[in-house]
Amino acid sequence: MESQENLKCKAIEAFRKKLVIISPEYKILTTSKYVLEGINENITGKRCHELFFGRPVPCEDCPATEVMRTREPSALYVPKTHDKRDIIQCLYSYPILAEDNQIEGLVIFDFEVPALEILEDKLRRSNAFLRNLILSSVDGVIAADRKGKILIFNDMASKISGYSIHEALTTLNIRDLYPGNTAFKIMRKLRSEEFGGKGKLKSYQVDFLRKNGEVIPISLNASLVYESEKEIASIGFFHDLREELEMKKELKEAQTQLLQAEKMASLGKLAAGVAHQINNPLGGITLFTQLVLEDYDLPENARDDLKRILEDAKRCRDTVKELLEFARQTRQEKQPHDLNQAINRTLFLLENQTIFHDIQIEKKLAPGLPPVLADIQQLYHLLMNIILNAADAMEGQGKLTLQTDFCDNKKRLLITISDTGPGIPEDVKAHIFEPFFTTKEPGKGTGLGLSLAYSIVENHRGKIYTVSSLGKGTSFIIELLTADIKNGEKSDDKSQ
Ligand SMILES: Nc1ncnc2c1ncn2[C@@H]1O[C@H](COP(=O)(O)OP(=O)(O)OP(=O)(O)O)[C@@H](O)[C@H]1O
Ligand SMILES: [Mg+2]
Repeated sequence: MESQENLKCKAIEAFRKKLVIISPEYKILTTSKYVLEGINENITGKRCHELFFGRPVPCEDCPATEVMRTREPSALYVPKTHDKRDIIQCLYSYPILAEDNQIEGLVIFDFEVPALEILEDKLRRSNAFLRNLILSSVDGVIAADRKGKILIFNDMASKISGYSIHEALTTLNIRDLYPGNTAFKIMRKLRSEEFGGKGKLKSYQVDFLRKNGEVIPISLNASLVYESEKEIASIGFFHDLREELEMKKELKEAQTQLLQAEKMASLGKLAAGVAHQINNPLGGITLFTQLVLEDYDLPENARDDLKRILEDAKRCRDTVKELLEFARQTRQEKQPHDLNQAINRTLFLLENQTIFHDIQIEKKLAPGLPPVLADIQQLYHLLMNIILNAADAMEGQGKLTLQTDFCDNKKRLLITISDTGPGIPEDVKAHIFEPFFTTKEPGKGTGLGLSLAYSIVENHRGKIYTVSSLGKGTSFIIELLTADIKNGEKSDDKSQ
């Protein structure tokens, strides 16, 4: 029996196409007989580029060069017309690998194929490439036919929606991915001219319905797919907007706070200046009125007038005190305090006032709260202003709820003061923390209460916000730091 090796050599020789085996240095090792037709000399050991093409260096587009670079089979296609048929001449090469995986030799052979097959092959490859491109997109990609049957559903679409790819392709309809009739609205917009051109929808923010029922905002770029001008499908690229919207909201809040803080700072300086100017003449008025009052011969009506003057001067002094406090000109001492006790004490002072008689007070004070780091006088002031506002808003009738809590691993304390008053209209809400803003009748409110509350909270490195619903009530939520040393504050922090 002939040896296997011999048989292999004969098989190469007998191959009825041009087949050449070369070394990595492009030297011919062996060929099929077909190559040798018309050649009389021994070509083994000659370089293929010199022998066949008369070139001193390897041909630029030689597939063998590509094989050496990539270690993968490679092909060079040259379209030709032969006997009036469109054909493609293909020069195909693949590596012969040694046991140590080094390229030992390269096989090159050429053959012709009808052009169509090659095109089909190319099409298959580019389809696979496009498919991969879509599947691995960082955007969610969903395509559906006219009836809403899902045709394409990539990994990211699965991640955002919570549906598996298999589930989406077999049981899901595109309408199930949007709440209510949103899918219908999207299609109507897609078919209209107004959103990025007919058949297109650009950066459209819309609600998306996840498998678990959660509705999330997405940004959608969608288009209709046409075939011979007939609409056959739609395709959408989208991403989850939650993080982006959250960041925008935080940024807006920070900007508002900054603006408010700036306003406060300049008004604070002004207020402090005015307060100091008023303080001296006020002292004089009080002192001299008291001196005149000491005169025994004073007629009774003059005495009454003087008492009025004293009273009014006292009111002026109180306002000046508030202004100074607002401008943070008073000395403050931040120490650890029991927040629940501070709330109880404030309530004790207020409860007996007539305005609180018909107000039901509910306390939901969390036990075991860590101490709050605060100037106790300012804390009383803060609570009092907000509770009084609530009582005013309810016009002495309703329910006042005071709640305490902690968050952020006991680093911050939360105080929520809610009333069942009329709520705050949006246009009013934008101004409530501004100094001298009031909706109360002249003489009833100075409009300093909440601006003072704001500057106290700010001074304690806390936060204050309002949640209000018209006709239902208002909640003021205050965040304060605990007296935890890790907060970076010394408990005996004293500042001017
Ligand atoms: N709980 C609340 N419900 C409805 N509106 C409120 C509430 N708290 C405050 N407001 C609105 O905010 C405005 C400003 O409040 P702020 O405490 O600064 O001033 P004021 O209460 O009007 O006067 P004062 O200086 O006497 O406190 C109020 O006039 C009111 O319109
Ligand atoms: Mg007030």
